Amino acid sequence: MSFHTITRIFRSELTGPTRLTTGKLFSPERFPKPRSLSYTAILTNAKDDFFNDPNLAATNKAPDGASGDHEGQFARTDGSLQIEYPPDSEMPAQPVVQGRGGMHFKRTLPSFSLENKVSLVTGGARGLGLVMAQGLVASGSDLAIVDLNKAEAEDQAQRLIEQFHKENPELDQLPNITAHYADVSSPDSVNQALTEVLEIHNQIDNLVTSAGFTENFDAINYPFDRMQKLWGVNVNGTYLFATGVAKHLMERNSPGSIVMIRSMSGSIVNVPQPQAPYNAAKAAVRHLAASLAVEWAGHGIRVNCISPGYMLTALTRKILDENPQLREKWTSLIPLGKMGTPEDLIGAVTFLLSDASKYVTGADLRVDGGYTLT
Ligand SMILES: NC(=O)c1ccc[n+]([C@@H]2O[C@H](COP(=O)([O-])OP(=O)(O)OC[C@H]3O[C@@H](n4cnc5c(N)ncnc54)[C@H](O)[C@@H]3O)[C@@H](O)[C@H]2O)c1
Repeated sequence: MSFHTITRIFRSELTGPTRLTTGKLFSPERFPKPRSLSYTAILTNAKDDFFNDPNLAATNKAPDGASGDHEGQFARTDGSLQIEYPPDSEMPAQPVVQGRGGMHFKRTLPSFSLENKVSLVTGGARGLGLVMAQGLVASGSDLAIVDLNKAEAEDQAQRLIEQFHKENPELDQLPNITAHYADVSSPDSVNQALTEVLEIHNQIDNLVTSAGFTENFDAINYPFDRMQKLWGVNVNGTYLFATGVAKHLMERNSPGSIVMIRSMSGSIVNVPQPQAPYNAAKAAVRHLAASLAVEWAGHGIRVNCISPGYMLTALTRKILDENPQLREKWTSLIPLGKMGTPEDLIGAVTFLLSDASKYVTGADLRVDGGYTLT
């Protein structure tokens, strides 16, 4: 019998009007109540089998807790963990990172240099923003620190210049480092800060949006006003600064580079601390970067993200001091086994702002010790 004959017979079996209209094929007697497919059914007749067979006890056929209290332990959020973003007065000032740039020590590719560029860093008075800002200065850039805490930004700008001078006494020309106030979630405040920066620096070539924060409440009890504030800073603030700087670059007809500091939390769900709005906000920043990268590609404006993992900053230090049990949980989930430090972002941000990455746009560079891989 040929293949065609077989196919024809098979088709007529399936579609033949007699068989379909007789109803015999689908009669309930021929098809009693369906039973789920289960190769474990035979093993689960006696309830005790769950407890005799540890492998079966670990499957979803067994009742909750059959294999022990640890079930889901490292993969669930814990609603009892509530962490509010602390007021500024509780945040200690940060020391200036020590060490000189590459020029006098080790040879490095010139395409990584940020000489003759002006970089603006939001949230640059503290934490990751401040350390990345110092990396940009070491790479030759002038710098505008923009922050809600202007006094801290001014203090850090001054300390940065002093440190630079101390480490490079032979250089006559010191970097131009300025400090400015902005609440990144307010369009008026953002515009005012951009005007101020441009009055002093005349240009902005690079932007790093690091102003942002996280808080922990379970989703049901998350205070709505706090959630709006969180989205206002993390999402709207990123959007407002990116569009403001892009507008300036377009008016100047100049290329530029934007790096949005988002988080691994925009790609995975952290445990055990619950933080649904933060995770969603950082996921939004990822797609905002991709969308703007496409929209502004024709203007030579590149937009990329950096997604840090757990980094030890004043904020994370405070969280860990108050919840020491988190330290072990966090590090046990990181393939490299350690939290990062803000210095680990310096290379990544310099790469993305410099010509070394001039064919890279819309990317998300994860600096997370491999957290998001597992
Ligand atoms: N620390 C981490 O482990 C970690 C991990 C992943 C992502 N991040 C992200 O990195 C960024 C920086 O975090 P951090 O740990 O350095 O925090 P941080 O609190 O140490 O520093 C944040 C800075 O932003 C400023 N800021 C806050 N709200 C502002 C506003 N409305 N307008 C202007 N400035 C404002 C603060 O004054 C502060 O100087 C955030 O976007 C955060 O979500 C941090």
